[in-house]
Amino acid sequence: MQKEVKKITTHTLQKMKANGEKIAMITAYDFSFAKIFDAAGVDIILVGDSASNVMAGHETTVPITLEQMIYHAQSVVRGINRCLVVVDLPFGTYQSNTEIALASAVRIMKETGGHSIKLEGGEEVVDSIKKIVSAGIPVMGHLGLTPQSIYKFGTYNVRAKEEEEADKLRRDALLLQEAGCFGIVLEKIPAMLAKEVSESLHIPTIGIGGGRHCDGQVLVMHDLLGITTEFKPRFLRQYLNLQEQITGAVQHYIKDVKDKTFPNEQEQY
Ligand code: KIV
Repeated sequence: MQKEVKKITTHTLQKMKANGEKIAMITAYDFSFAKIFDAAGVDIILVGDSASNVMAGHETTVPITLEQMIYHAQSVVRGINRCLVVVDLPFGTYQSNTEIALASAVRIMKETGGHSIKLEGGEEVVDSIKKIVSAGIPVMGHLGLTPQSIYKFGTYNVRAKEEEEADKLRRDALLLQEAGCFGIVLEKIPAMLAKEVSESLHIPTIGIGGGRHCDGQVLVMHDLLGITTEFKPRFLRQYLNLQEQITGAVQHYIKDVKDKTFPNEQEQY
C-alpha cells in the first residue's frame, strides 16, 4: 500500500512560521531537478523568472515571457509530489492593470498546475494582488531588491539601507499582508530590517540575502549547486561545485571516446 504524502500548502507554511520551523525554498525550472528537490524534502519550489538568466542566458529577468514561464512551470509540476510550487509572473504581465494581472495569474494556474504565483513590488501592485487573491489564487509578494526593476535601480546592491526606503518596505510588507499574500520574499536587505519585518507579520518571510531571522530561505539552484560559479554574493552558500564535477565527467567521457575505451564489450549489443 502506498503511503499517503502530506502535501505542503500555504496553511502548512503559516503553521511552520507559528511553530518556529524554518521554510526551505529552492528554484527549479525543469522536471528532473524538480523531482530530485521534491524527493529531497524541500518545502517550496519556486519556478523563478531567474530562468531568464540561468536557463536562457539573458543578463536580466526582463525578457522572459509568460509562455516561457508556463513551459518551465509545466515541466516542474510533472516532477513534484509533495512540495508547494510558486510560479513567478514575469515582467510586463501584471503591472499595467488588475485585469491583465488576473488574466496572467489565471493562465499560470490553468495551464501549469502550479499552486500559487509570485510577483514583485509593494503599494504599486496591491490592487492586482487583491484581485488575484479574490479569484482564489494564492499570491507570494517580493520586496527589497526586485530584479524586474533593475533598470530603475541601476545596480544589484543591497536595498533599503536608508531610512526612507526601509520605511516604505515596512509599509509595503503590511500592505501585502493585508492584501492577502501568504508569504513575502525579502531580497538583499539589511538583516535587522528583515528581522523587524518578519516579526511584525503573521505570514512567513523568505529571505535571499535577508539574513537568518527570516522565516525561510530561498536560493537559485544554479548558485546553490555551483553550476554558475562566477556569481558570488555574500549571501550565497554554495553546497557543490557542479561546474567542476560536470566538466571533469564530460572530459573523462571525451577521453574514453577518443581512446576507444567507450563503449566496451559489455556496453554493446
Ligand atoms: O526568480 C527568482 O529566482 C527569484 C528568487 C531570487 C527569489 O525571484
